[in-house]
Amino acid sequence: MTLRIVQISDTHISAHEPQRLQDLKNAVTAINALSQPPELVVHTGDISHDGVPAEYQDAREVLDQLNAPYFVMPGNRDNRAELLKVFADHRYQLPAQGWVQYSIEQYGVRLVMVDTVSDSSNKGQLCDGRLANLESLLEADKQKPVALFLHHPPYEATGIPDPYQYEDWTDVEKLTSLLSRYSNICGMYCGHVHRFIDGQIAGIQASAMTCMAGDLRKGEVSDSHRSLPEFKELALSAKH
Ligand SMILES: [Fe+2]
Repeated sequence: MTLRIVQISDTHISAHEPQRLQDLKNAVTAINALSQPPELVVHTGDISHDGVPAEYQDAREVLDQLNAPYFVMPGNRDNRAELLKVFADHRYQLPAQGWVQYSIEQYGVRLVMVDTVSDSSNKGQLCDGRLANLESLLEADKQKPVALFLHHPPYEATGIPDPYQYEDWTDVEKLTSLLSRYSNICGMYCGHVHRFIDGQIAGIQASAMTCMAGDLRKGEVSDSHRSLPEFKELALSAKH
């Protein structure tokens, strides 16, 4: 049994850059037209560019056109409170501490969304509270496969000017030692770097995908390619 997921990331919706909303609309159209449609769609953060309510409302209006259910998480450009006002509904399990960190349990693969947003910089952060919460999410079921979704890639993103996307790399070391205790983690999926960069953490295959916002794609991207919607189809082996 396979769980089909589409990952999208870094839409950076902004009233100043209307093309980005169009990029998202194009992606939704393309995802809905896939011959093998996903069971769900995950947005790995930086939904909005400035964290203001209108950006979330615009994003939601388009995302609601997806045929599949979708789940979101924050990136460094997001404002958790504004994000939650627009997207909070029965699909989220929100911890009292204010993090947008939760698991999705209704599929053959458990999906765990890890909140890596820092209040003090654009870089990633995993405080002890979030790591403890992640540990309890992982402990909840050690039999089913688990896929992890994080905005900031917690591995050396080779080939870019700054390959370390966390404020303090000891956060990543703590995450590595936590993840190394679980053999049922089947993959990790990230955003933030606006490029496709694969990596590894605790023996787990990890990847970051490029951004939906065509104007913000980094690396070698042709002008014609910037207008194409970028999304990633994941096929995860699920348990019956
Ligand atoms: Fe980001």
